[in-house]
Amino acid sequence: MSGKVAPEPITGAKVRLRSKQMSDARDDYAWQKDPELTRLDAALPFTGSFARYLADYASEMNFSTPARRRFGVETLSGKHIGSCTYYDVDYDRGEAEIGILIGDRDYWNKGYGADAVNTLVNHVFTELNLRRIYLRTLEWNHRAQRCFQKCGFTACGRLEQDGYDFTRMELRREDWEKRRRSSVEQDHSATGMAGRPPEDTRSDAAAPPGSIP
Ligand SMILES: CC(C)(COP(=O)(O)OP(=O)(O)OC[C@H]1O[C@@H](n2cnc3c(N)ncnc32)[C@H](O)[C@@H]1OP(=O)(O)O)[C@@H](O)C(=O)NCCC(=O)NCCS
Repeated sequence: MSGKVAPEPITGAKVRLRSKQMSDARDDYAWQKDPELTRLDAALPFTGSFARYLADYASEMNFSTPARRRFGVETLSGKHIGSCTYYDVDYDRGEAEIGILIGDRDYWNKGYGADAVNTLVNHVFTELNLRRIYLRTLEWNHRAQRCFQKCGFTACGRLEQDGYDFTRMELRREDWEKRRRSSVEQDHSATGMAGRPPEDTRSDAAAPPGSIP
């Protein structure tokens, strides 16, 4: 890890990631009570009261560790639409797992999920010295798989757990770096900078996290 906390928010092309805040609790509660959303995430809906949820929420907000960080996902105009997390950071194995939820259905299939994943992945590979990011998704969740594919993830196995069948997907640092380079090259050809000497292009390669498609 770089040793210092990256500045917030972490801005992508369509979304910003920022630390969870107590004002997110009402939306998160609604999403965790929603049977369709929890089913897509291989979980059961939360059935307790909001007061009970809030108490757990408050204690979880204080439970940020170097191995786990949870973000609120908001649009560039500040609307809270979901959450994403990296967790189980393992420096010996050089890997971490990620998860994402776009809880507001009005924002499905419009590229917000892919931008949140790209922004999270850029943040993790930039800030943490890891070789691989992985995730799991239900085998039949084709929208989620398509979203992760767009971000460069490829299938790397299957897992059966608690009666659910999951597809595992991964993104290796070298593949992320290739995507990053090709994104910078595309930007340069779009702005007429193709063919400039490497030192010029290198200075532009220091693009802010979240700038990769
Ligand atoms: C999964 C999720 C994060 C994806 O975010 P999103 O903003 O909807 O995704 P994107 O718009 O970036 O990408 C979705 C892609 O799947 C495609 N898609 C939608 N339904 C599909 C289906 N049934 N089969 C195949 N592809 C599908 C979309 O067309 C889009 O691809 P395209 O850009 O090539 O057209 C979000 O929909 C979500 O949180 N859903 C509810 C919870 C959930 O599924 N959680 C599990 C996460 S592991």
